[in-house]
Amino acid sequence: MRKYNVAVVGVGAVGIEMLRVLQQRNFPIGELRVFARSSRDITVDGKSYQVQAVSPDGFAGIDIALFAGTEGEKGAAATYAAEAVKRGAVVIDNGADFRMDPDVPLVVPEVNAKDVKRHKGIIANPNCSTIQMVVALWPIYKKAGIKRIIVTTLQASSGAGRGAVEQLKEEISEIVAGGCGDVHICAEHKAMPQQLAYNVFPHIGSFGECDYTSEEWKLVRETHRIMHDDKIKISATTVRVPVRTGHSESVYIETKKPITAKEARAILFKAAGVVVVDEPQKGRYPMPYEVEGKDETFVGRIRQDCFSKYGLWLWVVADNLRKGAATNAVQIAEVLIRS
Ligand SMILES: NC(=O)c1ccc[n+]([C@@H]2O[C@H](COP(=O)([O-])OP(=O)(O)OC[C@H]3O[C@@H](n4cnc5c(N)ncnc54)[C@H](OP(=O)(O)O)[C@@H]3O)[C@@H](O)[C@H]2O)c1
Repeated sequence: MRKYNVAVVGVGAVGIEMLRVLQQRNFPIGELRVFARSSRDITVDGKSYQVQAVSPDGFAGIDIALFAGTEGEKGAAATYAAEAVKRGAVVIDNGADFRMDPDVPLVVPEVNAKDVKRHKGIIANPNCSTIQMVVALWPIYKKAGIKRIIVTTLQASSGAGRGAVEQLKEEISEIVAGGCGDVHICAEHKAMPQQLAYNVFPHIGSFGECDYTSEEWKLVRETHRIMHDDKIKISATTVRVPVRTGHSESVYIETKKPITAKEARAILFKAAGVVVVDEPQKGRYPMPYEVEGKDETFVGRIRQDCFSKYGLWLWVVADNLRKGAATNAVQIAEVLIRS
């Protein structure tokens, strides 16, 4: 079997998971290079990795470069993705820099694996909350069509990187130790715009058009691109919650053809990458702390709108660092090497 030289850029919340997923899925790696801003040795699940300071020439001889660095103007992808492509690598990027570029396929393998073929050097991994939503909705879309999606996300701290996980931990310790009153912390919020322990806030990204946040627009625009249907009306509210890892979503859809909850459940039972956990009377529905470390998208509370045969509710949960980032990126790499 052919082996591939792989680079992982970034060893934060997603990058560490990327190393784990490559190992767990036995990705056929020849040489593995791990890059970050500075060099050091790290250990993941007992295996040590030498991290090198990233540089353009570091990508020479690399076949696949998995980017999990920071996004934006001076971020890892903006600075080094083109350099990696110039040296012959295919880049799979986890950030938002290329997701809306028409020359860059935006891929969730369960939905649009075939788009991988039209890459020109860069393939984008969608936002974590988009990935789990489209994995759950695509099988229903194929059967009944979807006209409208209304989604509220409950997103874990690790979705904002390792700094946010640290902030949550520190805040919990501070409150348990007495804090500044019962529920307030004294320290400054380091990584997130608000206190997260004992709190939730409807503010992920920056506010823009229609008073939606950038994170809310990602759910709209990325879903349109992945499902190749920009007619779907999508409204989102994205909320940060004091969970370590695992995003939850309350999703309402209006279908084109009527569909019952029973039919939707049967379709989702057979769908790739989906696990149905839907016995609410027994207290069984997906929960973030149970899906941490898993690769599937979990769906429960599948129920009909009492007032419309076109309306359906779903509760969708996935590990944002696995299916929402690292696993999806490695699955794209698997599609790439198969094709
Ligand atoms: N967290 C999620 O759930 C999630 C989901 C989907 C997508 N994403 C995206 O995935 C990317 C990584 O997110 P994260 O949560 O893992 O972030 P993170 O925990 O903050 O880690 C960022 C990593 O990137 C490295 N880095 C930063 N700037 C760099 C540069 N210019 N060149 C090389 N490496 C650089 C850092 O290096 P040092 O260690 O040396 O500082 C660090 O290892 C982001 O684009 C994010 O939007 C995240």
